[in-house]
Amino acid sequence: MIAIAAHRARRADVTLFRNHWPPMTPSAAADALSPTGSSTEAVPAVSVRQLTKVYGGKGGPKPALNAVNLDIPRGMIFGLLGPNGAGKSTLINILAGMVIKTAGSATIWGHDIDRRPRQAAAAIGIVPQELNLDAFFTPREMLNVQAGMYGVPPRERRTDELLETVGLTDKADAYSRTLSGGMRRRLMIAKAMVHSPPILVLDEPTAGVDVELRQHLWEHVRVLNRRGTTVLLTTHYLEEAQELCDAIAIINHGNVIACDSTVALLRRLDRKDLTITLTRNLDALPEALAAFEVEQPSPRRLVFTYRPSQTRVRDILTAVRGCGLDIGDLTTHEADLEDLFLELTSADDGRTEAADAAEAAGSAVDAGDAG
Ligand SMILES: Nc1ncnc2c1ncn2[C@@H]1O[C@H](COP(=O)(O)OP(=O)(O)OP(=O)(O)O)[C@@H](O)[C@H]1O
Ligand SMILES: [Mg+2]
Repeated sequence: MIAIAAHRARRADVTLFRNHWPPMTPSAAADALSPTGSSTEAVPAVSVRQLTKVYGGKGGPKPALNAVNLDIPRGMIFGLLGPNGAGKSTLINILAGMVIKTAGSATIWGHDIDRRPRQAAAAIGIVPQELNLDAFFTPREMLNVQAGMYGVPPRERRTDELLETVGLTDKADAYSRTLSGGMRRRLMIAKAMVHSPPILVLDEPTAGVDVELRQHLWEHVRVLNRRGTTVLLTTHYLEEAQELCDAIAIINHGNVIACDSTVALLRRLDRKDLTITLTRNLDALPEALAAFEVEQPSPRRLVFTYRPSQTRVRDILTAVRGCGLDIGDLTTHEADLEDLFLELTSADDGRTEAADAAEAAGSAVDAGDAG
C-alpha cells in the first residue's frame, strides 16, 4: 500500500524535503520534549493522537494499540522500545499505510495520513521489520526502481550517494541474493531514502545483525541524522538505544508507559550500587552502617545501594572507614536503560494483571448475577 501511495506522490511532494532540521543536542532533545520548550511551536515530525488498533481474527478482537498519544520532534533519533507484541510495529505500519488504524489520528511532517496520504507517504521512508528484497535485482536497479515509484526523475536520483552512505558501493551491481543479511538491511535503508524523506523509520534495524555490523549500521543512521533526517527506530538492544537515541518512548501492551529524553529517563532511576571489597573478613555488619541500605554477600564484600541525589559516595566511604574497616577495592554500578525498562514494564505488567483479575472477578459477578 505504501508503494501505491508513493507511486502517486507528485514531484512537488518529493522535492519538498531537501533541507530538514539542525542536528540534535541533549539539551535540545530535552527542550523539544518539554511542554514549555521553545521548540514545541514547531510541528512534530510525527504526531499521533488517541491512536487505536484492534486486530480482528479467529480468536476474537485483539487490541494492539490503546489510544496512544505521541509526538516525535524533528531532528531527533527517537527510540520506540517495548517487549515482543507491545505494538511497536503496529504503530509504525499504521504510519507506513500498511495497517489500517481502528481509531485516532496520525500526522507525518504535518500531513494527516487520512486527509493528505500522498504528502504523508512522501515524508517518510520505512524499513520494515520483515525484509522483502527482490533477489534478482541489483542494489542499483532496486534503488532506481524505487525512485521511479516515488516519481523522482533520473537526474535528481541519488543512487550512488545512497549506496556510498550505506557502504554498498562495491556491491552496486551484484545480485541482491548474494548480499549478506546485514548488507540487505543496509540496502533497505538506502531504498527507504530514495525520495529524500525527512523521516526515516527503522523497525528492528539490527535484529540478527552481528555486533560489528550493528555498529556500522548505527553509524550510517547517525550520519543520516546529522544531515538532517529525523529517525524513528524500534530496537530490542537497550544498550544501543541508550547510546543512540535522543529520546525514547517505552510501549507495553499497546500503551506508552514512559516518554522522555534519554538523559531524563536515566535520571529517573536515581539508583547506584557501590561494591566495597575489604582487606579482611568481617563477621557481622557494624551497627554504624545500619543507616545505609547495605548487604554483605561474602565475608569481605559489602554492597551499598543508594540514591545519588541524596547520598554521596564520600559519606558511605567515611562511614566504612569510621568503623575501622580497611577498603581494598571498590566499584560502582549505575542503573541503565535496561533497569528502567524492566522496572517500568514489570510494574505495568503488574497493573495489567490486576486489571485483568478485576475484570475477571467482575465478569464472574456478572455471570453470578445472570445465573
Ligand atoms: N496482522 C495481525 N493480526 C492479528 N494480530 C496481530 C497482527 N499483527 C500484530 N498482531 C498482534 O498485535 C500485537 C502487537 O504486535 P506488534 O507486531 O505491533 O508488536 P511489536 O511490538 O512490534 O513486537 P515485536 O517486538 O515482537 O516486533 C501482538 O499481540 C500481535 O500478536
Ligand atoms: Mg515488531
